[in-house]
Amino acid sequence: MRICNTIVDMRGACRAARSGGKRLGFVATMGALHEGHLSLVRAAKAACDVVAASIFVNPTQFGPTEDLAKYPRTFERDQQLLEKEGVELLFAPSVEEMYPAKAVTWVTVDGLSDRLDGRSRPGHFRGVATVVAKLFHVVEPDAAFFGQKDAAQVAIIRRMVRDLNFPVEIVACPIVREPDGLAMSSRNAYLDSQQRKQALALHRSLMRVKKMWEGGQRAAEKLVTAGCEELAAEKSVRLDYFEIVDPDGLDPVRNVSKGALVAVAAFVGTTRLIDNIQL
Ligand code: PAF
Repeated sequence: MRICNTIVDMRGACRAARSGGKRLGFVATMGALHEGHLSLVRAAKAACDVVAASIFVNPTQFGPTEDLAKYPRTFERDQQLLEKEGVELLFAPSVEEMYPAKAVTWVTVDGLSDRLDGRSRPGHFRGVATVVAKLFHVVEPDAAFFGQKDAAQVAIIRRMVRDLNFPVEIVACPIVREPDGLAMSSRNAYLDSQQRKQALALHRSLMRVKKMWEGGQRAAEKLVTAGCEELAAEKSVRLDYFEIVDPDGLDPVRNVSKGALVAVAAFVGTTRLIDNIQL
C-alpha cells in the first residue's frame, strides 16, 4: 500500500491507478477504524478494480466544544488494517496540506445541513461537505463508499455531488452492528462497560418503532413518542433528537411510509452517539 501525504502525490497516484480505464473506489475515514469502515473497503473492493482510502481527522467538522483533540488517533493500526483489506492507496494529509492558510471557501448544502445532526452540531455538515469535496478533487474516484449510520451525511453528500456535478457514484453501505445491536462507531471507544450497556437504548428505541410500524402504526407523532419513551427508560441516556424523516431531503414526515428514515442521537455520559433504521 502506498501512503501519500501530499495532494500532488495522491492525485498523481490516483490518476495512474485509473489509467487503462480501471475503476477507482474510495473510502474516506477519520481513522480509528472498526468493522464498519472495513465493510466499506470490502464493498469498494467488490465493485472496483483499485481502492483508495483516506485518514484525516477533519477539524472543520468539529464544533468548538467537541472532541477534536481527544478523537482517537490510531494511525499505525489503521494502516495495517487497510493494507490487509487490500487498499492500494492511502491518503494521510496534514491539516496544513488540506487547508491552505486563510482558506475562506466552503461547501454548504443549504436546507439539509441544518437537519438532524446539523441542528445539534452547527457547522458540522459544512465541514463534512467541504472536506469531502476536496477529497473528491484529489482522488477523483469513480465510486465513493459511505456508511448508512451517518444517514444525514449520506443525504448531504449525494445532494452535493448532484448539485456540483461530481462524476462519482455514491454508494451507501449498511450499518454494521455488534451482536447485541449496538451500531459500530469510533466513539464507542469512549464508553466504559456500564455506558456500553446503556448505549443499547438507542437500538432498542429504533426496534420499538419498527415493531409498531410493522404492526400498522403510521402516525409519526405516535412512533416518535414511543421511541423517546424507550430511550427515557434508560435514565442515564440523554436524548438529543428522535426524528422520522424522508431519507433524501431529511424533511420530517407525518405519515410514515416504507423507506422513511428513523434517526436518533443521544448522549451516553459525554459521548454523543447516533443510530438509525430505514423502514
Ligand atoms: O464519516 C466520516 O468519518 C467523516 O465525516 C468523513 C466522511 C471522513 C469526512 O471527514
